[in-house]
Amino acid sequence: MISPLANKEVLLGVTGGIAAYKSAEVVRLFREKGASVTVVMTESAARFVTPLTFSALSGRPARTNLFDGYDAAISHIELSAKADIFVVAPATANLIGKAASGIADDLLSTTLLAVKCPVLIAPAMNCRMYDSPAVKRNIETLRGFGYGFAGPDEGPMACGEYGWGRMSAPSAVAEAAEAMLAHAGQFAGKTVLVTAGPTLEDMDPVRFIGNRSSGRMGYAVAREAARRGARVVLVSGPVSLVPPAGVELVSVRSALEMEAAVNAAAKDADAVIMAAAVSDYRPETVSHTKIKKGADETTVRLVKNPDILAGLGKRKRPGQLLVGFAAETDDQEKNAKAKLKAKRLDLIAANPVGGETGFGGDLNRLRLYGRAGHLLDTGVVTKAEAARALLDVIFDAMQGLSLK
Ligand code: C5P
Repeated sequence: MISPLANKEVLLGVTGGIAAYKSAEVVRLFREKGASVTVVMTESAARFVTPLTFSALSGRPARTNLFDGYDAAISHIELSAKADIFVVAPATANLIGKAASGIADDLLSTTLLAVKCPVLIAPAMNCRMYDSPAVKRNIETLRGFGYGFAGPDEGPMACGEYGWGRMSAPSAVAEAAEAMLAHAGQFAGKTVLVTAGPTLEDMDPVRFIGNRSSGRMGYAVAREAARRGARVVLVSGPVSLVPPAGVELVSVRSALEMEAAVNAAAKDADAVIMAAAVSDYRPETVSHTKIKKGADETTVRLVKNPDILAGLGKRKRPGQLLVGFAAETDDQEKNAKAKLKAKRLDLIAANPVGGETGFGGDLNRLRLYGRAGHLLDTGVVTKAEAARALLDVIFDAMQGLSLK
């Protein structure tokens, strides 16, 4: 099979970590798969591995200096314009921080700021640095920009410590680059509507009924769909997440607000992915003033919210794909299949709630069912990986391949 890297222009950024030696193998793998590679190094990277090594392996002069491009007629702008993918491996905490803040003070960071192509980052740093709040926030920001990540992995560090922060194996970096290129533009011309987060149902000006949904799964799906070229409308309940770059965010609070926003956006949607944890009930009345403390017992009367997804199922346009989520604590398969049928969905993603997966955390496990039955079990993976697996199935389904 031809690699998605074949005949592609790859920019490989190499920053100054001990893992820089692994990048020599990354260049070799990229070239083996048919790509042309231009290496851009930071000055500190050139202390770990000489530019000559990268020039020899890539067959092109490795670039380090922002100001040597004019003679060679390849400025950072020209470098960035012709790249199909920009891979930074290893990416130090410093580079990640600069990229997250838009700092451009050398050839690598300047070129990175100018590219329009997909960007893949392979972090490599000491495990305590990787664990620092600043690096975590910066990585989250870059994910929000739509950057892909390969690793880091867990293992022994060069400094003798053990933990998360090792650069992924060159083969894993090459595979991640192939996956990014294979999917880029997959959903071009399609509109994907994604819902995420909880809905909050007000009782009075200070109290509400809500749930523990963090919105992470829906945001990961929205981000991945945007990365694959879809126009993405993200209808989100209240969450504390950075919205992915390039999505049209519609912020809502209650189930009724979500229903109105979803129904409006669903008209042009080729696929609707309802990852939101919609409140099934809302208080019958909302007090305009704070409800006072009084009797030892009190009752809040709840009324049913509309089932947004079931409503869409009833009015579904031919060719529109409806995807539901079924967060379950028990009897997952039975409940998911029953919901698929009752709500007239094409696909349902059952995910267990409790343990290390589900609400709030970074991990999830999706079991996907179509009308014909079980399609896929992702195992316990990050929500970004779960989103990728889900969109692969949705893509196939939209091609009419795997769902009848
Ligand atoms: O019936 P249940 O709430 O478990 O179904 C879950 C699926 O239905 C999710 O995709 C959720 O977003 C959607 N849903 C909805 N409106 C509701 C309740 C759930 O669209 N009122």
